[in-house]
Amino acid sequence: MTRKILVTSALPYANGAIHLGHLVEYIQTDIWTRFQKMRGHECWFVCADDTHGTPIMLRAEKEGVTPEQLIARVHAEHSRDFAGFHVAFDNYYTTHSDETRHYAEDIFGKLKAAGLIEVRSIEQHYDPVKQMFLPDRFIKGECPKCGAKDQYGDACESCGAAYAPTELKNPYSAVSGAQPVLKSSDHYFFKLSDPRCQEFLRRATREVCKAQPEAINKLQEWLGEPGENKLTDWDISRDAPYFGFEIPGESGKSTGKFFYVWLDAPIGYMGSFKNFCARKGLDFDEFWGKDSKAELYHFIGKDILYFHALFWPAELEHAGYRVPTSVFAHGFLTVDGAKMSKSRGTFITAESYLAQGLNPEWLRYYFAAKLNGSMEDIDLNLEDFTQRVNSDLVGKYINIASRAAGFIAKRFEGKLLHSHLNERFQAELPGIMEAAEEIAALYEARDSARALRRVMALADQVNQYVDKNQPWVLAKQEGQDAKLHEVCSLLINAFRLLTIYLKPVLPKLAQRAEEFLNVAPLHWADAGHLLPPAHLINPYEHLMQRIDPKQIEALVAANRESLEPVAAPPTPAADPQSPQRHAQHQQATEDKVQGQAEPTLQHISIDDFGKVDLRIARIADAQHVEGADKLIRLTLDLGEGGTRNVFAGIKSAYDPAQLVGRLTVMVANLAPRKMKFGLSEGMVLAASDTDGKSPGLFLLSPDSGAQPGMKVK
Ligand code: 2FM
Ligand code: ZN
Repeated sequence: MTRKILVTSALPYANGAIHLGHLVEYIQTDIWTRFQKMRGHECWFVCADDTHGTPIMLRAEKEGVTPEQLIARVHAEHSRDFAGFHVAFDNYYTTHSDETRHYAEDIFGKLKAAGLIEVRSIEQHYDPVKQMFLPDRFIKGECPKCGAKDQYGDACESCGAAYAPTELKNPYSAVSGAQPVLKSSDHYFFKLSDPRCQEFLRRATREVCKAQPEAINKLQEWLGEPGENKLTDWDISRDAPYFGFEIPGESGKSTGKFFYVWLDAPIGYMGSFKNFCARKGLDFDEFWGKDSKAELYHFIGKDILYFHALFWPAELEHAGYRVPTSVFAHGFLTVDGAKMSKSRGTFITAESYLAQGLNPEWLRYYFAAKLNGSMEDIDLNLEDFTQRVNSDLVGKYINIASRAAGFIAKRFEGKLLHSHLNERFQAELPGIMEAAEEIAALYEARDSARALRRVMALADQVNQYVDKNQPWVLAKQEGQDAKLHEVCSLLINAFRLLTIYLKPVLPKLAQRAEEFLNVAPLHWADAGHLLPPAHLINPYEHLMQRIDPKQIEALVAANRESLEPVAAPPTPAADPQSPQRHAQHQQATEDKVQGQAEPTLQHISIDDFGKVDLRIARIADAQHVEGADKLIRLTLDLGEGGTRNVFAGIKSAYDPAQLVGRLTVMVANLAPRKMKFGLSEGMVLAASDTDGKSPGLFLLSPDSGAQPGMKVK
């Protein structure tokens, strides 16, 4: 029976690069969907960039571009990276789309009509300078427990304490440096505490999570015992300024409120699929309608289970749509047993991996060999990575083809055995064809780790046959032609079967193997037969290189950041509660500490250099700073980029009066830094000798003709 299946991966935020941690999920989902397609099912894989929210709005502002420009650029980068790792979405869209807006408004309207939306006034931190409400992660201050400075509004990275932002001592806005004030405003809430939601979630989410017992335990914890009402209503609106969709008011009136990014993110799954349906002529309702018979699966990280197993099904149910068949959560990625780290060079971006010339299928294979369908974290051990890819893929699988291909070409005109093939295959290599269903069941259960172990055990069996028959010895012996032909023909057939079993994981390699085997794209059902008699194969070209450990060293070196950031940027933490975001932030802090211990200057790529936004600035004003020995306060004019306040340590060399009016060069995208005297929003460039012994400090100036705001490249 042909199944209809719609599959999604979580939507990555549109303000950061794809890294190996992300790729675990996209590769896992891609393997699963490729497998379903090979089985002949109608399976669609959609995704999109998650484009809304405060961090993206502020990032665009800092880069001096509109949010639309930022998300368009990131969309191109993400699409490039996914394609580079052979992640074959049927549609990769954006949540900033008419389709997503339509379903967000539709779902909101239906929840409202069902009496599940409530407006309540709440008090929140507000930045009076920037005139915006601050998400917890954009408020910093001193830890109420240990007094550590510059801690985020939700947890202390020094002592680990968790607290409310209102408890921080001397809080300040990470956006402007101003002291936040408490201000109230109306918010829209989705009433998760309503008995209808509670009752539905108790009944249905267990079903949605049934594939993963660990997830059911989590849900149990969140839902509490029957009769207990542990779920709180969910705040789904944000005040302007916000990059997102405005919440429609009565008869189209403006509300000035926006949907919180997490409200429209999963709706982006629908938006992406709707966009795909329009292009493909598919029926959207067949997949999302209340009575849909199609299967719907969301692959996600374990940190966003709450959103996908509680909020999302409850929204869909009460807005009249079908709910997911299942949510599949995976764990986090560690590298060499530790969190990915910039200072150690293990925070590896997809782009850098490919730029170093590493084969994406090596990583696909390694991740697949570790993923078992559970929520356990997986570790990329770099030594094991090299060893396993070299021994399994090259040493076992590729070896089979390379041992046989040359003899078939040279001695038998490229043709395989013309008779008794099935019989001989069954006699010599029993069980290889028969393993197809067992391996399929493991892929179906997302246990690619066991599927690959099974495939490698078959490869071992074939290699034992190679060793027993030694085709290279047969080739030198008189009168052994028929035997040599048989041995090599069986090996080519075994190689073809293993190619079928590996194809979901290694699609490009499989494609090249198909060319060599001179066969149409292989489907799973093709494992039910061997190649036809006297089949002609093509000349063999080596299918995969071994990993040279030096390549891994170079990759780590290319990702190692040894330069100490001047100030920690406001972390793009769209989901402040998310432990993963928290973990990533902790990592950034750890990097800072380690970065100090590693002062060596290394080469950087042109892309790294491109991250520094250098601009021509006109010094509109320059003032002494009371109480500061070294600083001058500069007001820098960036033309259309507005003005910036910068504290520059140049007092020893310049009199403020002589600076006013001159042009210089500034770093315009340096994270704002709160100093004793106020907020510094960038840095001017000046030359000095490296050891600081000889006197002199020389502010840079452009040639005449340069205008404020011009980019320096
Ligand atoms: O955690 C994240 O990276 C979110 N951008 C995932 C969104 S998944 C879905 F809900 F859209
Ligand atoms: Zn603390």
